[in-house]
Amino acid sequence: MHGFSEENEVLAQQILDYALDRMKLDPVPLDGPQSYDQLFDAVGQTITTNGIGGERALELFDEVLSRACISVDHPRNLSFIPAAPTEESTLFDLVVGASSVYGGSWLEGSGAVFAENQALRWLADLAGFPDNAGGVFVQGGTLGNLSALVAARHDAAARRGSRPQRWVLACSADAHSSIEHAARVMDVDILRVPSDDLGRLTGENLNIALSGRQEDDVFAVLATGGTTNYGVVDDLEGIAAICQQANIWMHVDGAYGLAALAAPSVRELFNGIEGADSFIVDPHKWLFAPFDACALIYRDPELGRAAHTQHAGYLEAIATGEWNPSDYAVHLSRRARGLPFWFSLAANGTAAYSQAIEQTLTVASEAVEVIESLPFVEMVRPRQLSVVVFRRIGWTPQDYEQWSQALLKAHYAFVTPTKHGEETVARFAIVNPRTCREDIVGILQTMA
Ligand SMILES: Cc1ncc(COP(=O)(O)O)c(C=O)c1O
Repeated sequence: MHGFSEENEVLAQQILDYALDRMKLDPVPLDGPQSYDQLFDAVGQTITTNGIGGERALELFDEVLSRACISVDHPRNLSFIPAAPTEESTLFDLVVGASSVYGGSWLEGSGAVFAENQALRWLADLAGFPDNAGGVFVQGGTLGNLSALVAARHDAAARRGSRPQRWVLACSADAHSSIEHAARVMDVDILRVPSDDLGRLTGENLNIALSGRQEDDVFAVLATGGTTNYGVVDDLEGIAAICQQANIWMHVDGAYGLAALAAPSVRELFNGIEGADSFIVDPHKWLFAPFDACALIYRDPELGRAAHTQHAGYLEAIATGEWNPSDYAVHLSRRARGLPFWFSLAANGTAAYSQAIEQTLTVASEAVEVIESLPFVEMVRPRQLSVVVFRRIGWTPQDYEQWSQALLKAHYAFVTPTKHGEETVARFAIVNPRTCREDIVGILQTMA
């Protein structure tokens, strides 16, 4: 199994050919899910005592398994938050895999960590964070939020003389589901602060919610820089002012939306982020990197380190005083998962990122125009970023469901409905610069 054989040489070529062919498909096939029975009939038992051979396993992946996975980078995949990795980031993902890099410590991965940190620095600069800010790429937004909140609570516990009976985290009802999950994992309570008419958590409402509290129990305020369902950016400036006044950690969940820090046309929506204590943004969402990578950045990384560093006799060797990515989140071993993003950023330059994000914002604004021009659909909420939420007038939840399934079955588009309160509505999340106005028009016409 180990040692590069002639057989491996042939397999390597086949795998590289497969990867290149997949990358050159334009558009990629949308594909779709299959049942367990369908897959088992087609593939059978692949794990055997003597192995089926790389060639056969690749063939099964090419002909069956990959086709039962929806392509997240299809230009008409507008569900959830899809993805659109650049060619450079996808190619470099292969290199990261082949390089056996351990990205947890400076001792073992200094070159990789150096490069990742330059990519993090670009993001920190976009947010106006100080020179000593820093952090780490973790697996995803869920883990990034959890890690920041753990650091926030650790800091509150260290700074405040007395411990409350229960720690409390404040956020709006539109905060991502990962926040509720983090609160469960941390065994803390959530204070839901009412949003304003635009669906934003505001400094004013936060102030009202905090001022009624008897105990010094709120350890963090979580603001969202682009909600998942509507793309709404909270009032970061107002929230930062209240957090500073009350001496509470402000974390910004920008897993989806903070990519738009690089888009001049909407940059001012994020004013106030420079006052946050930490933020996250996922390169695998709107920053054109492959799964899975979330950038977690602390204003004062020492606070992240104090909360997260693991201690053990065998780990003393990595405690060199250099930057150990493992010290900044809930993890130890890690793939240098920021490298595909770094490579693409280095190769293309930051201006290309700004342009690509602006392109998706343009298509999102065109989508709104088209929706407003059609008699059978209407916007549900004003658009702020690249999420567009609208209703098909007169449709029941079943109509949306059937329409969505029919689009996927026809391998035309993947657009899942969402909820606006109790109402089922339609939603486009546009993060792919290949998505164009014609794609939007084509999908909307299927609702006529
Ligand atoms: C605002 C926001 N926060 C957190 C997450 C969770 O990120 P991940 O799926 O990478 O864990 C998402 C995912 O869509 C999100 O949109």
